[in-house]
Amino acid sequence: MARGDETVRNPLFARFFDRFAAKDEERGQAELRRELLDGLAGRVVELGAGNGLNFPHYPATVGEVVAVEPEAYLRERAAKAAQTAPVPIRVADGLAGRLPFEDGSFDAAVVSGVLCSVPDQPSALADLRRVLRPDGELRFYEHVRSPTRGRARFQDVVDLVWPRLMGGCHPNRDTLAAIERSGFRVERLRGFLFPPGARVSVVAPRILGVARR
Ligand SMILES: C[S@@+](CC[C@H](N)C(=O)[O-])C[C@H]1O[C@@H](n2cnc3c(N)ncnc32)[C@H](O)[C@@H]1O
Repeated sequence: MARGDETVRNPLFARFFDRFAAKDEERGQAELRRELLDGLAGRVVELGAGNGLNFPHYPATVGEVVAVEPEAYLRERAAKAAQTAPVPIRVADGLAGRLPFEDGSFDAAVVSGVLCSVPDQPSALADLRRVLRPDGELRFYEHVRSPTRGRARFQDVVDLVWPRLMGGCHPNRDTLAAIERSGFRVERLRGFLFPPGARVSVVAPRILGVARR
């Protein structure tokens, strides 16, 4: 349970996200979420579920999702979204790096747009690895550091202010390297820009894939 100063409080960002994130769904992100979750089965933990935009896309082969969200406003929105989800979803308070779950208790873990914001990526990934069963899968869809040098430098500059405006989000993290360093074996990966062809957005470079414990 996230308590006191050990929680995430971003009331303004939470409301902004809740209001505007759905626009991206209409321009192709819903399809990316379906790709992220396609073929999942069994018991799944989703970290930083936000207002539950992944929920409608879980396939029927999933037995249960435990969706962790530390931000109170978003957690409430997620709980509402869970009511109409196609699979059973329990929304819980909790923080990256200290998930209140037993070792090896999930078949899969899902992160989308979260590893940019957690304060400590290695600890968040180690904890996700801990709660996965051997050979369990990590599904990830994240915006990342650009592979293009000029764009990456631009992300570094923007990073001086962006986290303060965007709920702690860093646009310049090499999240794929962090996933690999934490001991996951990347099995499937594609990198692309979203929205397609975006020229200036610092969060356009993305990766989507599957890694195994
Ligand atoms: C950009 S939103 C993405 C929400 C959702 N995953 C999605 O794909 O729409 C980032 C989410 O990460 C959550 N988050 C931020 N810091 C976190 C932490 N330390 N532990 C867990 N979640 C965190 C935020 O509260 C927020 O819901």
